[in-house]
Order: sequence, then C-alpha cells, then structure tokens
Amino acid sequence: MNNFINIFEMSPRDGLQNEKNFIATNDKIKFINKLSLCGFRKIETSSFVSARWVPQLADASEVFMGIKRNENVKYTALTPNEIGLDNALKVNVDEIAVFAAASETFSIKNINCDIESSILRFEPVINKALKNKIPVRGYISCVAHCPYEGNVDPKIVSQIAEKLVNMGCYEVSLGDTTGKGSPDHTLKILEECLNVLTPDKLAGHFHDTFKNALKNIEVCIDNGIKTFDSSVGGLGGCPYSPGAEGNVDTEKVNQLLLLKGYQTNLDIQKINECSKIALKLKKDGTYD
Ligand code: HMG
Ligand code: MG
Repeated sequence: MNNFINIFEMSPRDGLQNEKNFIATNDKIKFINKLSLCGFRKIETSSFVSARWVPQLADASEVFMGIKRNENVKYTALTPNEIGLDNALKVNVDEIAVFAAASETFSIKNINCDIESSILRFEPVINKALKNKIPVRGYISCVAHCPYEGNVDPKIVSQIAEKLVNMGCYEVSLGDTTGKGSPDHTLKILEECLNVLTPDKLAGHFHDTFKNALKNIEVCIDNGIKTFDSSVGGLGGCPYSPGAEGNVDTEKVNQLLLLKGYQTNLDIQKINECSKIALKLKKDGTYD
C-alpha cells in the first residue's frame, strides 16, 4: 500500500517508564491488551533494562508473559545489553531495539557509557538477536537537542544512524527527546541522514513538549519517511531527560495522516478509549 503510514505505539514503554507511580503489572497487561485491538502493527510493550535505572518497567518479563497476543501485532521491547536481550528472548519478544544517543552526556546519563562504547555494546546484542531471527530497531536520542549539551550537530546523527543500519538495524528511529527540534532543524537532520540512508530506513520519534511534533512529522512525510512513533494520551518522556514531555499523541498523528489522505488502518474509537485509559493511568495510577 503506497499511501500507508505505520504508527508505532509507544505508550506502554515510553509512557509508563516515565510515570511517577509504578503501574501494577495487571493494569499494564489490561492496557496492552486493549491497545492490541486498535489496529497497530507494533506496540512497544516494555524494556529489559536495569530495575535500578527504570523501576517502573521492572516487570517486563511478567508483562510479556501475561498479555494476550494478537497475531497481527508485534510486541517489541528495549534491550540495552546482552542481559536485557537474554531476558527478552526468554519471554518471546517479537522485536527488540537498541538505543543510542547523539549527545555524549545524555548517553552517559541514560545508559552509563559514551556513544562509542554503546555502539560496541550493541554489536553482540544485534548479532545474537538476528541469529534468533528477532528484528532489531535502533533509536537515536537527542537528534536535535540535548538537555545537557544544547543543540546537536545533524552530522553526528547521520553517522550513528548509518552505523546502526550497517550493524543490522532494519530501521533507525530519530528521537527528538526534548521536543525542541523545529521543522527547519528536523529538515537539516533528515537531509544529513538521507545522504547516507534511504527513507525506508528512518522513522520519526517526536516528543511534543513544545508542540513541534506534528509539524516535524509533516517535514518527515515530505521527505519520504513512513513510520512514526506516538503514544495514546500523549504519554511519555525519558527519566533521564528532565522536563521532556510525552510522545506526540497517537490520536493527533492519526488525524493528521488521515487528513493528508494517508491510510493508517487504526480504529479511531478504540484509540480514543485507550487514550482515556492512558490519562487515567497517569492521573490515578490505576486502570479501573
Ligand atoms: P550499569 O549500571 O552500567 O550496568 O547500567 P552494569 O552492566 O554495570 O550492571 C550493573 C547491575 O545491573 C548488575 O547487577 C547487572 O546484572 C544489572 P548487580 O550485579 O549489581 O546485581 N543489569 C541489568 N539488570 C536487568 N536488565 C538489564 C541489566 N543490565 C545490567 N538489561 C544499563 C547500564 C544500560 C543497564 C542502565 O544504564 C540502564 O538500564 N539504562 C536504561 C535507561 C532507560 O531505559 N532509559 C529510557 C529509555 S531510552 C528513551 O526513553 C529514549 C527513546 O524513547 C528515544 C527518545 O525519546 O529519545 C528510546
Ligand atoms: Mg522517547
């Protein structure tokens, strides 16, 4: 389908990792089961990271074991290292992601190593995942701006993106972690990345702190990008990016894409119900 755009749902991972309260495992499972009925092809379900670093997602294995899988959905997770990958493999995660950053300080704050060491650490993770026939996605955080270092050079982003693809990532999602990237800045990042990669190797991951996300998505679409990450209810944020707000809201992205004549194959009513649950999880910390 030429006019299909893939909306990759992030809320159980990017959303719930950033909530103050620990959401009960059973509530997470109910939320993901409900999201599974919306028509998403992929749901980022949790992260196999250190519970000391992200206590909110310490129950990743239980969540994966508890969800009712829809055969049309791939359930994905973040795995920063081999420990994470091994835990993910045990519970049959469909797809994993490694996550790098374009800023040294953010890299250290987020995964406790510099950019070069992180790439070296990802190599065995990617190789082992691919050997197990598990597709690997790559993320780059702080593509526009770093909360600690300020503006980021787009050339650094394209160099890391190219490396991740050469290492075996099927796609690299460009993360505007702080939400400060303007459409002009986004265009510069894309131009650099498209010098070394084709658009099908790139995705957009915009946090909407400064309400730039939808404009940035339009710039991406104009440049041939066809996958966007979003979260119902606009949930999301990174515990290591102070002040960054949620991912762009799935409902808003869907509405924009439909208005522009694209197909997303999502059920608007069901997304709306999930948005309400997401907001309740945020406000009260419980599903019911
Ligand atoms: P470290 O402390 O350097 O790890 O953390 P280590 O290898 O030195 O090990 C220390 C201890 O952690 C050991 O346990 C390990 O077994 C354990 P001990 O011997 O002390 O009992 N450990 C683990 N336990 C469970 N799962 C694991 C794991 N690895 C080690 N995978 C580490 C390094 C990468 C683990 C840590 O920094 C970490 O977990 N960071 C994750 C941070 C995170 O999840 N951030 C949010 C996601 S990224 C994001 O939101 C951005 C994105 O949305 C895009 C955007 O918006 O920009 C993707
Ligand atoms: Mg994010």
